[in-house]
Amino acid sequence: MSAQAKRASRPVRSRSRSAATPARSLAGTVFITRQVHFNAAHRLVNPFKDQAWNEAKFGPCNNPHWHGHNYVLEVTVKGQPDPETGYVLDLAGLKGVLHDAVVDKCDHRNLNTDVDFLAGINPSTENLVIAFWQQIAPRLPSGKLHCVRLYETPRNFADFYGPDVT
Ligand code: NI
Repeated sequence: MSAQAKRASRPVRSRSRSAATPARSLAGTVFITRQVHFNAAHRLVNPFKDQAWNEAKFGPCNNPHWHGHNYVLEVTVKGQPDPETGYVLDLAGLKGVLHDAVVDKCDHRNLNTDVDFLAGINPSTENLVIAFWQQIAPRLPSGKLHCVRLYETPRNFADFYGPDVT
């Protein structure tokens, strides 16, 4: 009998010895979220429209001398807990993905001019969540990207649930 088969044939231990019993894994789809922060400058502008149109549409966010926001990014991943770890995704690993994909490129930068993957994009919160999704999704080691939420201010935020959700 193999060592693995011997282990499998052992009787279930009593509750009083549960501290030495490996944790059971449970089945179910779980949504986990990691929050990260970054500070960045931007300007909302449509270069194909005149100044009056841009000022009317974007107000202070059209300031030609830029302005900043304290952005809060919340990213939710869904999946089944791994039977060995109980994790859908290691949250420390997700933090690393978010820094690699977004924070390291955007923090203390100008979103209009300094970020390669935002080149030519008007950096509204709506456009940013779509762009961030495109950067984050391919980097996830496990789980499925469910939602990218970005707070531009504590009261203004946008959610993106992926290109397939209309
Ligand atoms: Ni703004």
